[in-house]
Amino acid sequence: MKKIMDLITEELAEAFQAAGYDKAYAKVTLSNRPDLCEYQCNGAMAGAKAYRKAPIAIAEDVAKRLADSRCLEEVNAVNPGFINMKLRKEYVADYLNQMSADESMGLAAAAKPRTIIVDYGGPNVAKPLHVGHLRSAIIGEGIKRLARKMGHKVLGDIHLGDWGYQMGLIITELRERKPDLPYFDDAFSGDYPADAPFTIAELEEIYPTASGKAKEDEEYRKKALQATYLLQNGHKGYMAVWKHIMNISVADLKKNYENLNVHFDLWKGEADAQAYIPDMIERLKKEGYAHIDEGALVIDVQEETDTKEIPPCMIQKSDGASLYGTTDLATLIQREQDYQPDQIIYIADKRQELHFLQVFRAARKTGIVPEGTELEFLGFGTMNGKDGKPFKTREGGVMRLENLISEIEEEMQKKISENRTVAEDEAANTARIVGMSAIKYGDLSNQASKDYVFDVDRFTSFEGNTGPYILYTIVRIKSILNKYQADGRGLEGLKIGCARNDNEKALMLELLKYNDVTESSFEELALHKICAYIYDLANAFNRFYHETKILAEEDEEKQKGYIALLMLTRRVLESCIDVLGFEAPERM
Ligand code: ARG
Repeated sequence: MKKIMDLITEELAEAFQAAGYDKAYAKVTLSNRPDLCEYQCNGAMAGAKAYRKAPIAIAEDVAKRLADSRCLEEVNAVNPGFINMKLRKEYVADYLNQMSADESMGLAAAAKPRTIIVDYGGPNVAKPLHVGHLRSAIIGEGIKRLARKMGHKVLGDIHLGDWGYQMGLIITELRERKPDLPYFDDAFSGDYPADAPFTIAELEEIYPTASGKAKEDEEYRKKALQATYLLQNGHKGYMAVWKHIMNISVADLKKNYENLNVHFDLWKGEADAQAYIPDMIERLKKEGYAHIDEGALVIDVQEETDTKEIPPCMIQKSDGASLYGTTDLATLIQREQDYQPDQIIYIADKRQELHFLQVFRAARKTGIVPEGTELEFLGFGTMNGKDGKPFKTREGGVMRLENLISEIEEEMQKKISENRTVAEDEAANTARIVGMSAIKYGDLSNQASKDYVFDVDRFTSFEGNTGPYILYTIVRIKSILNKYQADGRGLEGLKIGCARNDNEKALMLELLKYNDVTESSFEELALHKICAYIYDLANAFNRFYHETKILAEEDEEKQKGYIALLMLTRRVLESCIDVLGFEAPERM
């Protein structure tokens, strides 16, 4: 369906032309004076100079031509030259009924569906997931779902950090502890054991221990670097240890992401890029893209128009090891070969901006990525505690993701038990569902690039701009619909009627925005716009609800109209929270 804004603009364009003005001035926006009108056009002011006319005269000329408009019931020319408009109630009801009848509620799928890879999550294998990984997972999942809703072919890739120095550290520490394992015996030629020589708990202890040692002890650090190098060059025993680390760690990651309702289509990682690295480096050297700079192999990415220095993209260290940029470039080769994406969106901490700038430029310059392929970096800010510093546990340590989730669930369970609308045995599950909304909405309602404060009390509140408030609104609608049906009445074939009062009209006007908001959130990769929209929509609904007898309404036709309006409100809210990656319970 066409967006309501475009439909109004079309009518205005006709009116501008009919009155002898350029239709380019017919730009419509939402009213910034909702007390006066619903939409406005400021084109008369913009045109005044060109036509050497008072803006109000132009506005009046245009308004006259709109007297019998299909969609506008009130058009006023107001000093100094605004055109203020209100939509016809019949027109609104008709649009909403068309939305209701449409499976995608008026959202037009992309004319040219594109293949989009969303690179998000990016956990580092063998390190426990901590809150720092939360944002990438939540934002990436939302972007993936939004792109899919717009009709694109989308692949979510976790891009595991599974090939770096942390692997060398773990191997080194394991070797120190258990030197007799066959993986460390170069003469060993049998089959390596099928079971890993560690559990996930041990693994999570080994890594920080090794990392601590390497910082203190230069010899140890060299060993770890050497182990990383050998691993990356196919050392048989180290590869076998690596596989064990991967099996154990990935199983644990899957469980954790599952709990977050975050799902990846591809579980690829930096290690998968390895196969492409030798040829890539060979070519880049041969074609003169890469050169040696202070011992390292680099690609220059500085451009003439840069106002500051952009350091070259390093692709091989002097000891031959690959780097973060190397695996990202090689991954681009692999993605191009396997999927020919039209766009790749990377979601990572905004402090990685320079890294991605270097990689993107190097990829373009060397032809690794074809011209038409869009590379985009969506950088996010830090999740802080109430003290304004990066979020920590009460003891000041790194907060593990699972602990954060259970803390929120506990808080939620308390609140839900106080409400007593949910059976005791249902409360834990409801707390899980509502808790997820608290975490995800709390995060996504902020512009991604900004730092934000993770405030457990505020995020779990049933009031205010929170996930639980949105769910509470949906649950309220579900409950009314259930009661309506409990009296033996069906929900089929109901039609939304003309608005009878301002609150009902205001709710309808919010619903009209659904396709526009979804589309622009995607264009701007701005999930916070969806959050802001459903907050406004939930508020509009609750105002309507408090002013209107719905179940007690005696006029059956009127009541049917209300029920149809509720059904659409619920669908829009549910569609939006689905994009945000959470769902509503039956009761709460
Ligand atoms: N593993 C990285 C980290 O923890 C994030 C990966 C982001 N994606 C990428 N293609 N570089 O910082």
